[in-house]
Amino acid sequence: MSDHTKIIHAGRNSPSMEGAVNPPIHRASTILFEQAEDLYSSAPVRHYGTQGMSVHDALRDAICELEQAYSVVLTNSGLAACTMPLLAICSAGDHVLLSDNSYGPTRQFCEQHLARFGVTTQYFAPDIGANITRLIRPETKAIFMESPGSLTMELTDIPAITAIARERQIWTMVDNTWGAGWFLKPIQMGVDFSIQAATKYPCGHSDVLLGTIAAGSKAASKLLKMYDRSSGNFTSPDDTWLVLRGLRSMGTRLERHQRNALIIAKWLSARKEVAQVLHPALPEHPDHELWSRDFTGSSGLFSFLLHPVAEQNVLDFLNALQVFSLGFSWGGFESLAIHCDPQLVRSQTNWQGRGPLIRLSIGLEDENDLITDLQQALEKLS
Ligand SMILES: Cc1ncc(COP(=O)(O)O)c(C=O)c1O
Repeated sequence: MSDHTKIIHAGRNSPSMEGAVNPPIHRASTILFEQAEDLYSSAPVRHYGTQGMSVHDALRDAICELEQAYSVVLTNSGLAACTMPLLAICSAGDHVLLSDNSYGPTRQFCEQHLARFGVTTQYFAPDIGANITRLIRPETKAIFMESPGSLTMELTDIPAITAIARERQIWTMVDNTWGAGWFLKPIQMGVDFSIQAATKYPCGHSDVLLGTIAAGSKAASKLLKMYDRSSGNFTSPDDTWLVLRGLRSMGTRLERHQRNALIIAKWLSARKEVAQVLHPALPEHPDHELWSRDFTGSSGLFSFLLHPVAEQNVLDFLNALQVFSLGFSWGGFESLAIHCDPQLVRSQTNWQGRGPLIRLSIGLEDENDLITDLQQALEKLS
């Protein structure tokens, strides 16, 4: 069955929906029991609100189907989804390998918090491939990848790394926010945990923070659920409901994000102010072959490098944008732009790009309006 069909029907089987298309929002901490015998029995589905209600079941089931996973845990933000598997896996003395293009706060968590518990983090070049073997130590417990990285759009050879990790019983995880569980299926590649900031494409409306962790096997699921239950993690039923509602239209939105982003990426490639467009679906992208092999499409986030100009020119360009807004998130219906220096969130490998990097999250607007906006703003550079 196509994902376009799955995304409409997945997670909609609960009798608690009482015939409605969408599940109810139950706000519950206490769950009441009819019989004293049930209090400590494993028979009832729920004993306490932290286990979630039917809306949580519905979203977990829907993501599980999309990611082709064994089970799913929801978290209160995308960042919490990145950190939870590491917390579930690592003990004092362990070693973690983290891709050098990873989302900045994931890195900070490793450096500031895993380090306090005696866990060492080492970064690897996103294009390391099978050479990851050289960095593996007896105490390596987890390999964290983000492909493509959400600033520089560098890809990682997920199957190559996963195959090596499996041989050595090292857990693997991928931040799959860009692929959205739609264009990339990491669990089918043998990855243990596929992580998403559902804040982005599944929500799609820029008004909710939520994360999902899809576990690929019974063992991965058991490890994650043990941590989930005892860590106090919980997502509000309202936020969960909003993400579920957003998810139903995600496939259709992604088609338009993809189309718009490709049109704009190609248009930018021909501009004299632009040194390089970093979009993996463009044949000239250094990791295009890897993208064609592993992904079935591309989402709306990409970056481009301007020819070197003064920082004030970059700010003038951003300030001139009228249809694009300035903001750090992505995946919503509205187009966003930021500038950044990737070297600031990198430590092991040098960012080779020359000139200021602009990241665009392409929304659902008419592509011609977006192009007109970029055109008039680029003219501020000359
Ligand atoms: C690649 C990536 N992963 C994870 C996150 C974290 O998501 P959240 O904002 O929901 O914590 C972000 C947020 O921007 C992100 O870009």
